[in-house]
Parts: sequence; C-alpha cells; structure tokens
Amino acid sequence: MNKNKGVIFDLDGVIVDTAKFHFLAWQKLANDLGFDITEAQNEQLKGVSRVSSLEKILEWGNMKLSQDQFMEQMAMKNDNYLTYICSMTKKDILPGVGTIIDYLSENRIPFALGSASKNARAILEKTDLIQRFNAVVDGNDVSKAKPNPEVFLIAAEKINIPSENCIVFEDSVAGVQAANMAKMTSIGIGQKSNLHEAHYVFKDFTEIDKDFILKLLNN
Ligand code: BG6
Ligand code: MG
Repeated sequence: MNKNKGVIFDLDGVIVDTAKFHFLAWQKLANDLGFDITEAQNEQLKGVSRVSSLEKILEWGNMKLSQDQFMEQMAMKNDNYLTYICSMTKKDILPGVGTIIDYLSENRIPFALGSASKNARAILEKTDLIQRFNAVVDGNDVSKAKPNPEVFLIAAEKINIPSENCIVFEDSVAGVQAANMAKMTSIGIGQKSNLHEAHYVFKDFTEIDKDFILKLLNN
C-alpha cells in the first residue's frame, strides 16, 4: 500500500447526518424573516460557512440587514442548530463510517477532518471521534469558505501529505469544488445529480468497499 496517501473527511452530511439540521435551522430563520428556502437552494448552502450561508439566504429573500441584525440572526440560527445536535452520541455516526476509519487506522493511513463548521469539534467529541483523527481543521481555522480549498490544504499540511495524494469525502458541491481545486481526489457522498463534479460518487459509505479504497490508496 502506498503509505504517502491521506484522507480528509468533511463532517456535516458525511460523518453525521447534521446537514438536515443546518437546513431546518436556516429554514426557520428564513421563515421568521417572512420567506422560505427550498431543498434545492439548500444544496448551495452545504459546505458553505455560516456567514456566506446567511448572505446567500438574504439575497434569495431580497432582504438587507444591518450588521447588528446580521450577527443576531447568525447567533439565533446557531442556537437553534445546537438544540438539534446537543443530544448526539456515537450512535449518530453514519453507517459505514466506522468501518472505513478503522481500516485507515489499521493501515496507518493518516486522516483529517476538513469542515467549514465552527461546531465540528463539539460534534466529534459527542460522537467520540475526536481522538481518532490525526488532525482537525474546522471553521475556526480558516478565513476562506469552501469552494476555496484553504480548509483542505491546511488539513493536508497537518497530516503531512502532499495535496495531490489526498482523498476527500464530501457531500457538498462547494466541498467537491474545493477538493478539485486543491488537486485532491474528490469522492462525493450523496446524489450523482448534485455531485457530478466529483471524481467518484457514492450514495453513502455502505456502498464503498475496501477494494475501492485500496485501489485509490495504491494509485
Ligand atoms: C458546513 C455545513 O459543514 O458547516 C454548512 O455544510 C454550515 O451547512 C457550515 O453552514 C458552518 O457550520 P456552523 O456549525 O459553523 O454554523
Ligand atoms: Mg458537508
């Protein structure tokens, strides 16, 4: 096995099913401001930072907020989101994720988290995963939101693997674009129709077998 390979996992919608909670919290925010957002619009919010998400939503709703109101809405959205994630445990890790993490650990392939979320560390703690990662890079560590590749480039650097040798698991269009921009191998987790820019797409981790991972790691 090629030992100079590394893996980077996105968090929301890849390791845990929190993408739906982000959507519900953003939808409530929009509804409270007097408009709605669709699931199709939500695809454009996945992977995107909290600030950029609110900017997009306000544009869709044709609304302008003062800086104070903007900050207040972001805080309210996050408080609402936290009510969804507060009771998470390791039972909430998505099917197949544990198997792949164990496989990487057994084969000493370093893996990192590359998430836009400022809540990422809290979720990794709740799900007992934080100690398993060789590095964690999240929304607190970056200044540029996906599709900018910053988060993945920092993660690659932290696990000391050249970016072109990294494999990224992502559920968002912005994240797939970020991985591609970083010259990494992008693996979309979700629907092919949304994630067609990814090098490979799987519905979820239960569809990915060890031979496929081995092939990528040996490439
Ligand atoms: C990403 C999610 O992982 O993190 C986005 O896909 C979310 O939906 C973004 O907006 C920022 O998350 P947080 O937890 O910092 O608001
Ligand atoms: Mg995601």
